[in-house]
Amino acid sequence: MSRISMKVDGNSYVDEVEPRMLLVQYLRELVGKTGTVVGCDTGNCGACTVHLDGRSVKSCSLLAVQADGHEVTTIEGLGTNGELHPMQQAFHENHGLQCGYCTPGMIMQSIDLLAENPDPSDDEIRLGLEGNLCRCTGYQNIVRAVRAAAAGDDR
Ligand code: FES
Ligand code: FES
Repeated sequence: MSRISMKVDGNSYVDEVEPRMLLVQYLRELVGKTGTVVGCDTGNCGACTVHLDGRSVKSCSLLAVQADGHEVTTIEGLGTNGELHPMQQAFHENHGLQCGYCTPGMIMQSIDLLAENPDPSDDEIRLGLEGNLCRCTGYQNIVRAVRAAAAGDDR
């Protein structure tokens, strides 16, 4: 077992974990952040995307021990004082979700995308989200939501 400590959504956690435990398993099973979901477990779908020190990562492709000493933000850490994060609001207003399974990862990736490029073209949004799959194929509204968030339409 390995002893790890990290901040998740602003709170500190210290745990003993198997060295082989994936970060997504740690977040869901030990920390209780079940808003981060597993779609494929193979690094393909992006449903498990979280932020590690502010940058998006696929948490099924990292071990929990690799996040030792770092800061993780999940979809559950985005809202403040009961208010949705602007990107969550933009997805809501632009119907950027259908079944919603991909949504946590899409939102985490979209926030990172805008941090890198605050005014992306539609092609740049599609490129930035190419590692995130929506099985409902609702991409048009997802792109619209990210564009709205970039423009600040939801604020
Ligand atoms: S569950 Fe991690 S990329 Fe699909
Ligand atoms: S909304 Fe259904 S998988 Fe994306």
